[in-house]
Amino acid sequence: MPLPSALAFPVVAALLLAACDPQDDAPPAAATPAAATANEGLVAHGEYIVRIAGCNDCHTEAYGRRGGDVAKAEWLTGSVLGYHGPWGTTYATNLRLTIAGLGEDEWVDYTSKLHTRPIMPDFMLRQMREADRRAIWHFVRALGPAGRKAPDALPPGVTPPMPYFQLVAPPPPAEAQNGQKLET
Ligand code: HEC
Repeated sequence: MPLPSALAFPVVAALLLAACDPQDDAPPAAATPAAATANEGLVAHGEYIVRIAGCNDCHTEAYGRRGGDVAKAEWLTGSVLGYHGPWGTTYATNLRLTIAGLGEDEWVDYTSKLHTRPIMPDFMLRQMREADRRAIWHFVRALGPAGRKAPDALPPGVTPPMPYFQLVAPPPPAEAQNGQKLET
């Protein structure tokens, strides 16, 4: 796994310093506390964004039902609760696994253009400041991979297994159904 970039520079700098001056036996760890603090700041900010942006509401099993009282070890591991509507049935994915498979810059790029099916508010991620999306990556990476993959989405017209939420919408206007404008 590549080092997070916030850590990589001070570590490299410490190694270079050590290489330039072999007499200086200060442990390379001397560079670590500042880097660790910077990373802890990002991780804490990421946790805050995840909490207030509501990612857990869908991506963490039973988060709403348990009033948010879910151990962080279980956060964002995806859900088997289906969201059923004209788009088929979707499942909030396991973000612990998604993020384990993406580098920081890949995540930032991915989330800047993310387009999903309902009910993921993908527009929220696209509009989120890059610094906040980076912080989410640091927080979720710090939690580490956990859980299993969420169920695959189902196509429209297929009744999903329980449990699922269902959107019951009025039928589309006749105009949209037959592609012609009705004379009234
Ligand atoms: C209202 C429910 C809901 C909320 C809130 C929500 N998501 Fe999602 N999310 C979903 C669903 C459902 C999908 C699957 C969409 C699909 O299959 O097309 C999804 C998909 C995604 C994906 C794409 C799939 C993947 O794993 O790469 C990402 C990334 C993602 N969500 C991140 C987030 C983040 C970060 C937050 C909080 C800022 C968040 N979501 C909040 C329901 C939600």
